[in-house]
Amino acid sequence: MTDRLVADDAEQPEGLIRAAELLRDGRLVAFGTETVYGLGADATNPLAVARIFEAKERPRFNPLISHFPDSESAFKQVVATPLARKLAEKFWPGPLTLVLPRHPDGEICDLAAAGLPTAAVRVPAQDTALALLRALGRPVAAPSANRSGAVSPSDADHVMDGLAGRIDAVLDTGPCAVGVESTILDLSGDTPRLLRPGGVTVEDIETVIGPVERHHDAREANAPIAPGMLTSHYAPGLPVALDVRSVQPDEALLAFGPPLTGARVLWNLSETGHLDEAASRLFAGLRALDRQGTQAGCSRIVVQPIPDTGLGLAIRDRLGRAAAPRPDADACQDAPSTQEHHVA
Ligand code: TXA
Ligand code: MG
Repeated sequence: MTDRLVADDAEQPEGLIRAAELLRDGRLVAFGTETVYGLGADATNPLAVARIFEAKERPRFNPLISHFPDSESAFKQVVATPLARKLAEKFWPGPLTLVLPRHPDGEICDLAAAGLPTAAVRVPAQDTALALLRALGRPVAAPSANRSGAVSPSDADHVMDGLAGRIDAVLDTGPCAVGVESTILDLSGDTPRLLRPGGVTVEDIETVIGPVERHHDAREANAPIAPGMLTSHYAPGLPVALDVRSVQPDEALLAFGPPLTGARVLWNLSETGHLDEAASRLFAGLRALDRQGTQAGCSRIVVQPIPDTGLGLAIRDRLGRAAAPRPDADACQDAPSTQEHHVA
């Protein structure tokens, strides 16, 4: 059952209060922004974030954008460069997303950042959304509120068409003013790079910070654009083998359901075999097994079979990348080192 909440009464903002309560409890609430409706979850809660992927039936754990009521709260979670501050001053609140290094004390969970050392942040220009973010006081991860592969929703009916019964509530704030997603700009490297064109034009950005590397420039230079395009992007230091039915004493076991016996180093994604719990524990598990397994002299990490349905598809996609042959250093020049993703 998906509640339809309204927040049109400033004196008695019950819908808003309910939406904040649900988010605080780890539930899913779609809400209008100026670009598209976002499917929101507490970005500091990996189980809540796992539910986003489940509801959207996303086959992959793409990194998500975290939303904030102001630049001050955003820049507690990421390391702001001078360019980032300039852009924030000019375009926030508004349809611009900035990719920056995650702050060492940041609370955005690994699953929301897809294990990357960077995170995408933005301050939406929608009054009710801002009030909700302020009331919650935590970053809210929100991809567009549609099933994976479907068109982005620009009003609450579109959200219900795709997600009714799969999410806890939609906060109806009417049609979205912008209707296309935010512009995504990567400021984590030497030069600002456009990752996705959107609500703020590159030309406007360039008047503030100077030249921006365009999408096709990067492609011509053979640089990976989106994190998901790198095959071996989520790989820990130890090699990874999937779908094992037995385990050797020198192997670290990533279990799912009743664990195989004989492993000295073990992390169970979900003893009860729940895929949402498994998704929320995946990055932490790979990191722990990598560290403890290396200390214990293990030769590799082995993974018990995980179903390829529902969230299992996304989990298997990430594990498949972790197990894929490692690219040679040249091919991966522009990408952050695979090690960093799990040690950051
Ligand atoms: O307008 C918008 O941005 C909407 C509203 C709801 O805010 N959100 C949205 O989210 O479009 P989504 O999940 O559909 O798109 C997020 C994009 C993905 O393409 C993802 O790869 C990129 O942001 N992204 C997120 N974190 C990133 C990171 N650390 N590095 C590079 N790309 C990142
Ligand atoms: Mg989308």
